[in-house]
Amino acid sequence: MPLEALILAAGLGTRMKSDLPKVFHALGGRPMLSWSIEACQQAVGKRPYVVLGPEAKDRWRDLKESFEVIIQEERLGTGHAVAQAEAALKGKAEALLITHADLPLIRPESLQALIAARKESGAKLTLLVAESSSSRGFGRVKRGHSGRVTGIVEEAHATPEELSIRELNVGAYCIQCDWLWENLSKLPLSPKGEYYLTDLVGLAAEQGLEIVTASVKTEDEIIGINTRVHLAQAEAALRQRINQRWMLEGVTILDPANTYIGPQVEIGRDTVILPNTHLTGRTVIGRGCRVGPNTSVHDSQIGDRCHLEHSVVEGAVLEEEVEVGPFAHLRQGAHLGRGVHMGNFGEVKNSTLGPGVKMGHFSYIGDAEIGEGVNIGAGTITCNYDGERKHRTVIGAGAFIGSDTMLVAPVRIGPGARTGAGSVVTKDVPDHSLAVGVPARVIRKLR
Ligand code: UD1
Ligand code: CA
Repeated sequence: MPLEALILAAGLGTRMKSDLPKVFHALGGRPMLSWSIEACQQAVGKRPYVVLGPEAKDRWRDLKESFEVIIQEERLGTGHAVAQAEAALKGKAEALLITHADLPLIRPESLQALIAARKESGAKLTLLVAESSSSRGFGRVKRGHSGRVTGIVEEAHATPEELSIRELNVGAYCIQCDWLWENLSKLPLSPKGEYYLTDLVGLAAEQGLEIVTASVKTEDEIIGINTRVHLAQAEAALRQRINQRWMLEGVTILDPANTYIGPQVEIGRDTVILPNTHLTGRTVIGRGCRVGPNTSVHDSQIGDRCHLEHSVVEGAVLEEEVEVGPFAHLRQGAHLGRGVHMGNFGEVKNSTLGPGVKMGHFSYIGDAEIGEGVNIGAGTITCNYDGERKHRTVIGAGAFIGSDTMLVAPVRIGPGARTGAGSVVTKDVPDHSLAVGVPARVIRKLR
């Protein structure tokens, strides 16, 4: 019978002082719970079971595909939470990997080490431990003279001597199921009125069983989240983890403490990222780019050798060698062809700018198609909205749009045409023609 994973996530998280259940607070831009789900999925190779509280119902739907839900109606402790899974799991699994959702930084490698320790030793109960000088409120692992694990004592109930123990119970276990289901009901009620899963360890020791431990791979994994202070610590540790990975992949990050890269972002080598840059969602950055400072890129694709400075980019595609900013805003559906130069205070939405287009200053381009090599003068606006509907603007290759031109859509400017400064274009301008004035009229053919 296979191994299944169970994540305990029903705790109230009262110390977060929040209306949102703790495990749905964001970490690295996604719900904390999704990190444990991913780690378990990687460790056991399938969707984990998750114990949630009843109030989580309208929150978990976004993540629903990635786990099986078990509801714990009453919060009676970690032992009680595991007991809620018995009906769903009995007879289905040989052993259960149990973790806590408020330990989002646990690496799959550590969970795998725990699983391997069980396999090698055949122990009915294995647990993940960490040596640490800061206790973080964790339970302490008690050992007898021979070094044999004899139990776990919760910090709240520990004697001063027990408090000095540095071996901590991380909160991840691999337990043989038939033994687990048989013994869960034997857990005593704690002084706090809860059934502690940790009391299983003492119970196993009393039965003369050997309890085997595995250690976490890195110290940052044991950042458990009980308060928003811990959440910020986890965010910083995660940031460091992600940034280190990219630096080792050949990306220069000037100030890793102030560079925010989401878990799904990809970055090419020899790209330089300057401080206060936020790369989020499914963003892909090419090679040899320079991004930042103060730039946000979300769900966008940036080609090789692009430069972005002090800008906001969302849902956009940039081909190679595009320059953006300072102070540019690219919105959903902006597609900038190779070598486009977009200078300060420009906005582009749902528009394609052909290769080599230049829009240096103060322009809004929305719902437009701009041909290769077009020059967009300062202050050009596509008036795309008539109060009810959006309309398109099409500008042919090589056109020259004079400063402060208003393009009242729907409108088409032919290839090689020009508009005079300050013109308000309400009618199509044929190719290679010059249109000026308000409203603009064609005054001559250019060739
Ligand atoms: C628990 C352990 C402690 C360990 C620590 C580290 C127990 C009794 N103590 O303490 O030894 O060092 O974790 O991670 O297990 N939960 C439920 N239902 C409940 C209660 C809790 O699903 O009724 C979930 C919580 O959502 C949380 C996890 O179980 O994800 C742990 O609960 P929490 O209250 O945070 O336990 P700790 O005090 O941290
Ligand atoms: Ca906790």
